Amino acid sequence: MTAYSVVIKMTPSGLLYLVEAVNYLGVDWRFYLMVTNKWFRGIYAVILVLIAFATVLWFPKSRVEASPPGVLPAEAQLDSQVNELLARMTTEEKIGQLTQLAASDATPEMIRKGEVGSILSDADPADIARLQHIAVSESRLHIPILFGFDVIHGYRTIFPIPLAMAGSFDPKMEEQEAAIAAAEASAGGQRWTFAPMVDIARDPRWGRITEGAGEDQFLGAAMAAAQVRGFQGGNLADPHRLLACAKHYAAYGAAEGGRDYNTADMSVQLLRNVYLPPFHAAVEAGAESVMTAFNDLNGVPGVEDRFLLQQVLRKEWDFKGFVVSDYDAVNELISHGVAGSQKQAVQEALSAGTDMDMHDGLYLKELPALLAEGRISMAQLNEAVRRVLRVKFELGLFDHPCTAADASSAKAHWLTPAYREAARAAEERSAVLLRNSGNVLPLSETLRTVAVIGPLADSRTEPLSHWHGDGNPQDTVTILDGLRRQLPNARILVEKGVAVEGDTEAEAKAGIARAVAAARQAQVAILTLGETAEMSGEGGSRSSLNLPGHQKQLLKAVVKTGKPVVLLLMNGHPLTISWAAEHVPAILELWEGGTEVGNAAANLLFGKVDPGGKLPVSVPRIASQIPVYYDHLNTGRPGTMKTRFSSRYLDLPVGPLYRFGYGLSYTTFRFSSLALSAPAMGRNGSIEVSATITNTGHRAGDEVAQLYIRQRVATLSQPVRELKGFERITLQPGQSRVVRFTLKASQLGFWNNSSVFRIEPGTFDLWVGDSSAGGLHTTFLLK
Ligand code: BGC
Repeated sequence: MTAYSVVIKMTPSGLLYLVEAVNYLGVDWRFYLMVTNKWFRGIYAVILVLIAFATVLWFPKSRVEASPPGVLPAEAQLDSQVNELLARMTTEEKIGQLTQLAASDATPEMIRKGEVGSILSDADPADIARLQHIAVSESRLHIPILFGFDVIHGYRTIFPIPLAMAGSFDPKMEEQEAAIAAAEASAGGQRWTFAPMVDIARDPRWGRITEGAGEDQFLGAAMAAAQVRGFQGGNLADPHRLLACAKHYAAYGAAEGGRDYNTADMSVQLLRNVYLPPFHAAVEAGAESVMTAFNDLNGVPGVEDRFLLQQVLRKEWDFKGFVVSDYDAVNELISHGVAGSQKQAVQEALSAGTDMDMHDGLYLKELPALLAEGRISMAQLNEAVRRVLRVKFELGLFDHPCTAADASSAKAHWLTPAYREAARAAEERSAVLLRNSGNVLPLSETLRTVAVIGPLADSRTEPLSHWHGDGNPQDTVTILDGLRRQLPNARILVEKGVAVEGDTEAEAKAGIARAVAAARQAQVAILTLGETAEMSGEGGSRSSLNLPGHQKQLLKAVVKTGKPVVLLLMNGHPLTISWAAEHVPAILELWEGGTEVGNAAANLLFGKVDPGGKLPVSVPRIASQIPVYYDHLNTGRPGTMKTRFSSRYLDLPVGPLYRFGYGLSYTTFRFSSLALSAPAMGRNGSIEVSATITNTGHRAGDEVAQLYIRQRVATLSQPVRELKGFERITLQPGQSRVVRFTLKASQLGFWNNSSVFRIEPGTFDLWVGDSSAGGLHTTFLLK
């Protein structure tokens, strides 16, 4: 009776623990039922009750009492929880915790045997619930599975691609996006996202530039931290949040030639000053998992990079979470030519610090023999398992193993009006107005005839991008839908003109003729041109960044009609649009804008909202100019020198077509009164920077004040400019506001090639302006 009352107060995991304890001591309760002699039964009953009491007193309270949802187990308890569990695990069960498989590869039998620690890319809540049930009720130790998914920019409500979101220069909004994605994904049963992707990308040919925050480390770090906060919510145990995963560690975005998976070769200073800061920011914000990169960095593939995994991540950043390989990347050590066999690949990866093996199942296959041969020690194995279990405890998975709602109630958590609203606002704030000559935009709502031309106007799939979570194209509000809602009484002439690519000359000719005819009848022609989703993302590198197919021909033909033309760009890569930049009156960069792209585009086109996004990446004039990024070094002969013998191309103007941080508005702004709180600061000091921004136009609008610096003389050549602060503000016509930044001396330092972080005295230039060029200028001294 007493034992019974103890038992019912316990959580399922506490109960399981008790049963385990009883079994461990060799007193099998089932045996009790088989004993017929009443004296023996009595003795057994007493032993059972004693064990029950001992268990409750002996094991930490957290084991017995459920942490209510959302309450993180105390830090002090984690280690003992992990160690106790670890002590009861067989070697096979330990290896299982380091194994992540696709749902199709993870059989119920394997799960029962404890061979699967994590499952990726299962979008079916019912299936997740079923597999989790097997893990927690039918495996020996009842360890829950960690379900992971690529929740990159939304789960069911798809937001603009991360590159676009970075252009909002609004980390708070990025955080909110990640929180919504977490709420939707966790309702679908996920507890881990393989995001944020924090790779700096200075080569826009690289398809995965879409997944990150662009070319700048300061903006990248801000967006990385914001996403981690949004996904994890400061409390991993909250069942509506996701474990974040900073990827791809590291320098994946520096793949040579922008070709996916390619080698990256770089100096220590470049790695530490540019490519690592967003990872560090993600770890500082609390990201508890990190994914290694596919590429080799200076000849060392990500999964076996001890410098990155041990020295930087663990020692310097004190990372406490676990490291997962990228998909099949352990096996790929063989193609890299650094392992001669799968066994060697596993040995290299695990001993370097890759704790979990994604998809290829090689840890499961090779670790038993490696352990038996002593090539991997039990201590190494235990360490990796500990890291994974620790995060599972932190996530509260043992108490709340499954968040998958059933299909009908999951829907209540998806695509709510509030989420759609947030996705629409995100796209409105991310879009970048590149050109607006003659103030063609905003359009008037009194328009009677509008031609909507181009292959993307009614596309439901392409705005969702290559990674689109569990998003469903049926939910997309297309550009056409948005325009029709905005102009219910206008005549809208729709002509596709040409396909994004793939149509024949004859098809293109006929389509262009129809488009021109429609434009001639209309008061304005809105063209939707760009890329398909598959033209960017993983494996989506392009050697040319021109508008694909016959789209430029279509654009030229429509512009030739003399009608006002508005070009809506829908793309994952920045596109080289030099001709359009000169000849098309209005260009609005929408990127891949997500589920609500159509409503957002309509609001922007008709001036319901002001475009205030900025470019998170430089747009080249032509792909052969790449790399072209704003924070380059000056060289001994800067391209701006008026001599042949300078660092430039003979046949191109210097610099990109559109610079980093650039973007127009429907109104105009003036920057004035740049002031510093002091002309100099000490090595541990800071100064306050302020400037006044005034809306000098006739409409309300957004501006992003950007603070850049440059150290004039240092022991290593320093970038011509570096972003060190930004703030997006909304101003009514005539309104002024003072923006203030605190610039700390620690922000002025840099890493040298001996991995030493140096803060060197000297003179700094400082600018506050609306992009990475121009702006108000002053100088200050670091003493
Ligand atoms: C990608 C990762 C992704 C993983 C799982 C890999 O191919 O590089 O970014 O998280 O697949 O889908």
